[in-house]
Amino acid sequence: MFFSFKPKPKNPPQQPPAAGNTSSPTSSGTPPAPASSAPIGMVAKTGSPLPPRVVHAPQANPYSFAKGLVSVKDIIAPSYVEVDFDNLKINNTFYRTIFIAGYPRFVSANWLSPLISFDHSLFTSMFIYPTEAKVILEDLKRKIAEMEATIQSDIKRGKMVDPSVQVALDDALVLQAQLAKGAERFFQFGLYVTIPSENPDELNQLSKEVESTLGSLLIVSKHATLQMEEGFKSTLPDAQDKLNITRNMDTTSLATTFPFTTASLTANQGILYGINEHDGSLVIFDRFSLENANSIVLGKSGGGKSFLVKLETLRSLMFGTEVFVVDPEGEYKMVCDVLGGEYIQFSFNSPIKINPFDLAGIASAEENELGLKILSLHGLMKVVMGDLSPAEDAVLDRALVATYQQKGITPDPATQTKEPPLMEDLYKVLVGMESEEAMALAGRLEKFIKGSLSGIFNQKSNIDIINPFTVFGIRDLEAELRPIAMFIILDYIWTRVKRDLKKRILIVDEAWYLMKHPDSATFLYGIAKRARKYYLGVTTITQDVEDFLSTDHGKAIITNSSIQMLLKQSAASIEKLSQTFYLSGGEKHFLLSADVGEGLFFAGPSHVAMRVIASPDEYELVTTKPEELMHRQTLLDEKEKNASPIPVEPTPPVVSPTTTTPPPVSPLLATQPPVTNPGPALTPTI
Ligand SMILES: Nc1ncnc2c1ncn2[C@@H]1O[C@H](COP(=O)(O)OP(=O)(O)O)[C@@H](O)[C@H]1O
Ligand SMILES: [Mg+2]
Repeated sequence: MFFSFKPKPKNPPQQPPAAGNTSSPTSSGTPPAPASSAPIGMVAKTGSPLPPRVVHAPQANPYSFAKGLVSVKDIIAPSYVEVDFDNLKINNTFYRTIFIAGYPRFVSANWLSPLISFDHSLFTSMFIYPTEAKVILEDLKRKIAEMEATIQSDIKRGKMVDPSVQVALDDALVLQAQLAKGAERFFQFGLYVTIPSENPDELNQLSKEVESTLGSLLIVSKHATLQMEEGFKSTLPDAQDKLNITRNMDTTSLATTFPFTTASLTANQGILYGINEHDGSLVIFDRFSLENANSIVLGKSGGGKSFLVKLETLRSLMFGTEVFVVDPEGEYKMVCDVLGGEYIQFSFNSPIKINPFDLAGIASAEENELGLKILSLHGLMKVVMGDLSPAEDAVLDRALVATYQQKGITPDPATQTKEPPLMEDLYKVLVGMESEEAMALAGRLEKFIKGSLSGIFNQKSNIDIINPFTVFGIRDLEAELRPIAMFIILDYIWTRVKRDLKKRILIVDEAWYLMKHPDSATFLYGIAKRARKYYLGVTTITQDVEDFLSTDHGKAIITNSSIQMLLKQSAASIEKLSQTFYLSGGEKHFLLSADVGEGLFFAGPSHVAMRVIASPDEYELVTTKPEELMHRQTLLDEKEKNASPIPVEPTPPVVSPTTTTPPPVSPLLATQPPVTNPGPALTPTI
C-alpha cells in the first residue's frame, strides 16, 4: 500500500506529535526521491528511447531507473492518507486502532471469541514474542523479593498486608516454579484491533462497542492516540509490530488466545434449526437455497432425530412448503392432527388402498414414465418375492411389460392415462406364461392377491394427496410388510410429486427399513438423486448408522444430501462416521457425549455444533416421551371427567365437548396460519 519503497529502518522514527490535522498528500511512507537520483529519475520518466547517455553514468544507482517507472504499488496506493489524533483516513475509509493494555487474571479457552465473532469487520493482529526463561527468572526473582519485602515491612509496621500484593506474589511464585521446572515457557503478547468504518460517527459507535465487548472480557483497551498510522500498519497482515505494546504471558494463557471460530450458519431466510453451541447464534437455514434440498439425519435411537425433523416440519409448513411423511412409528400423528394435516393409516383391514401400478399420466419429453415405472415395480417385486435368478428376473420383466400392454398402456404417453393394471393382472399374466419360472413367481406373489396381504395393494388407489401435510402411518402393519408398504407409498408419493411442481419435503423416518433390502435402497437413492428436478427435498432419518454407512446406497444418499445432521452417536458407529464426515477428535467426542437434541449440522461447506430447541408449545406437540404422553392422557381424562360429572340418575348420555376436541392447541399454534384441509382424502372405493 503506501509503505516506503526503500528497506525499512530497524527502528522506525517516531511520529512527531501532530498539532491538528496533518494531511500528507503523498503519505508519510513515501519519501521524496533523494536529490542525488533526481536527474536520472527525470530522464527515465520521459521515457526517452535513447537512454545510454544516462544509463552508463558512472555513479548511477542501479535501482534509480526502476524507481521512476510506474509500479503496481503506485497504482494501488491511495491518493492520500490523513493522519489525525484518533483516527486515520485512507481514501474514504476511517480507521481507528485500539491496543490492549491489561488482561484478566484468569482466562478460559477461546476467551477471545466475542472479539473474533464481532458483528463488524475488524483487523485484529496478535504478536507473540518468545522470551528467554533465564532473563524472566531473574526478573521474577527480583520482583518476588520486592513483594516479599513490601509484605514484611507492612507486617513489621503493624499494617494490614495489601491483598493485591499477596495475590501477585502467589502468582509470581507459581510462575517461577513452573518456569524453573520447564513446564511453561514465557512470551510477550501484543494484541491490536483496527476498526474500519465509512463515517466518523459509525467509527465512534463501533469503537464503543468493541471496547465494551473487550471490557466484558475484563480486558483493558486503549486508543493508540497519536500513533494511528503505526497502529494501522501493525494490524496489516505483514507481521510488523510498530506499536510494540506487549504483556507477559505463559504458555497456558497464550494457548487460550487461539481464535477458535466456527462458521456461522445464520442466513437471512429459512427456518430455525437450533442454536450454535459455540457462539450462541441462531442456525437459520433454507434448505432450498442449496444445490439440492435433501437432508439426512443420523443418530442413536432417542437422540432427537424425529424431534428435530418434526420441528422442521412445523416451521416449514408455516412458510408454505408441503410436507409428506412416511411414519413407521406413528410419531407424527399428534403434529398432523393439530395442524389439520391428513393422517393416512395403513393397517390390515383399513379401507385405504394404493395401487403400485399407478402412473402419473403426464407426458414428459425427458423421461419415459412407463420405463421408469417398470423399473421401480421390478425393484418392488424383488422386495416382495425375495432374490430372483437371472431367468426369473427376465420373466418378471416381460410379465410387467405384458401386464401394462394388456390394458393398452405402451411407452406412448397418450396411452398412459388409461386405467392402470392391478397386482392381480400381473399374477394372471405370470400364470398365463406357463413357464416354470413364471409359475414360481406367481406362487410367490399369491399371498398379495389372494392371501392375508391382499387387502391393501391389490386394489385401485382410493386416496389422493390433497392436503399440504400428509402423513402415511404404517405402524399397524406387520414388520415384514413395512419395507414393502414404504416402497409402495414412496412410489405413490413420487408419482404424485411428478404431476405438478411445488416446494415439497418428503420425510422418510426409520429409513433403515428400506436400506435393509438393496432394491428398496436403490429406489430411495433414485428418488433422492432426482428430487431436485421436482423441487422436492428428501429427508432421510435413520438410527442404523453403521449399516447405513456400509452400503453404497447409504453413502450415495449422504453425498446427495446438502444438509447432514449428526446427533448423538454410539461408540460402535463413530469411527465409520468420522471417516465419512472427516470429523476431528473433538467432534467425535462431542457426538459421543452429546445430550439429546445436540449434534453437528453440516450445510454445504460449513458445519456447526448445534442444540435443537423447541418452544414449550412446540415441545408439547412433538415429544413422544411415554411418560409425558401418559401424563397428558391423564390430564385429558381428568378434564373429561370434570366436564361431564357422573349423573346420579340415568339421563341421556351427554357428549362431552372435550372428547371430540383434539388436545389443546397452544396459543402460539392457534395464531399460525392453519394448514387448510381442502376436504376428505378418502373417496369411496368403486
Ligand atoms: N431438542 C430436544 N429438546 C428437548 N427434548 C428432546 C429434544 N430432542 C429429543 N427430545 C426428547 O427425546 C425424545 C426422543 O426423541 P426422538 O426424536 O423421538 O428420538 P429418535 O432419535 O429416536 O427419533 C423426544 O420425544 C423428546 O421428548
Ligand atoms: Mg424417531
